[in-house]
Amino acid sequence: MKFQKSPGTQDILPGAVEKWQYVEGKARDICRRFNFREIRTPLFESTELFQRGVGETTDIVEKEMYTFIDRGERSLTLRPEGTAGVVRSYVENKLFGDPDVSKLYYIGPMFRYERAQAGRYRQFHQFGIEAIGAVDPAIDAEVIALGYTFYTEVGLKDVRVELNSVGTPAVRAAFRERLLEFLNPKRELLCKDCQSRIDRNPLRVLDCKVDQAHFEGAPSILDSLDEECNAHFEKVKQCLTDMGIPYEINHRLVRGLDYYTHTAFEYKAEGIGAIDTIGGGGRYNGLVSDIGGPEQPGVGLGLGLERTILLLDHQQTELPNLHEIDVYIVALGEAADREATRLVYQLRQQGVRAERDYQGRKMKAQLKSADRLGAKFTAILGDNELERGEIALKDMAKGEQRMVAIHALTAELQA
Ligand code: HAM
Repeated sequence: MKFQKSPGTQDILPGAVEKWQYVEGKARDICRRFNFREIRTPLFESTELFQRGVGETTDIVEKEMYTFIDRGERSLTLRPEGTAGVVRSYVENKLFGDPDVSKLYYIGPMFRYERAQAGRYRQFHQFGIEAIGAVDPAIDAEVIALGYTFYTEVGLKDVRVELNSVGTPAVRAAFRERLLEFLNPKRELLCKDCQSRIDRNPLRVLDCKVDQAHFEGAPSILDSLDEECNAHFEKVKQCLTDMGIPYEINHRLVRGLDYYTHTAFEYKAEGIGAIDTIGGGGRYNGLVSDIGGPEQPGVGLGLGLERTILLLDHQQTELPNLHEIDVYIVALGEAADREATRLVYQLRQQGVRAERDYQGRKMKAQLKSADRLGAKFTAILGDNELERGEIALKDMAKGEQRMVAIHALTAELQA
């Protein structure tokens, strides 16, 4: 019997996992600077939370959720995204009692039953943030800026920010009518997906990649915004400009989740096959109350980590080597081997990344191993050196070798 991973899942092996650690480290570091604090919520929640939170007519709820009945006959769902769970936790733990805005972040796996392809998985990982408790457009801009900073600081180039306002539910309802007037005569020309979407969610039709040619002259939601929506949108743009964050307006941008109001945005970049969206988010002023909490506005984002890493590879971004070894101890002989056990442990306690041989290999094989691990130094210990209390320290980059006292090895390496 041979087992294989399920379609759309991935093993992240040593060699690749260092990239993940690097990217996650950047995310945490940036959150610290922006004063977002980590929240960890369960990987599964009640199915109803996502039906209500994400929206009944979304692709996610209609066809992508991993839903199961547990042994207690509850319907549970593996989280397809992070926002609903965080908002549930915010309400359940009464974080709204906090006088400050709740600024939260998470990094972890999400699950969607999608057709697997490059950049699209069934288990994927998001870095997400949610700021709950303020309507100030400055915080929409701060969220957008945080995502932009993340992409820039991990080393990605040419990431674009696309921005739109999807207004309030009332604005959207009015716009929907205008849009249907435009789309109805074209019904037959549209692709199958759009034909089935047109009555349920005509705004998403405009986002279709296949049918763009038919949308020339389509009405823009931005012309339907009321005064309040307009003022909010203008202020978001102004804050972005003040911070020097570049953005483009895309009045056809709609997100795949139902909870958005006002600000909606996406980060886009080329290089992952047909996929160009690498992250997105927006404001959700009705969500907290929709799932049973008080009227509290929120805004957040979710950035796909697989897509981030695929792009880093595609752009051949140089990353710091997180796995380099400081010193490889080559021990030759029984007494030296025993000393190596002690010495390697001592070095590690003192903060040195140290490795040794465990297979009784000859000197040449041990040196090759040191090379493979990218050791900056090798330290060669034979029984003769041991008697003198010395070890031969070789700088691998310079190719220089000299004798140092064993007790001074840590100090030498740190110098
Ligand atoms: P989303 O647009 O559904 O938003 O997902 C955000 C990001 O997750 C996408 O841009 C993409 O990078 C990544 N992603 C989504 N599905 C997959 C997949 N099947 N495989 C690989 N990557 C994927 C949300 O999830 C919202 N919760 C974001 C948000 C937070 N809005 C407000 N707060």
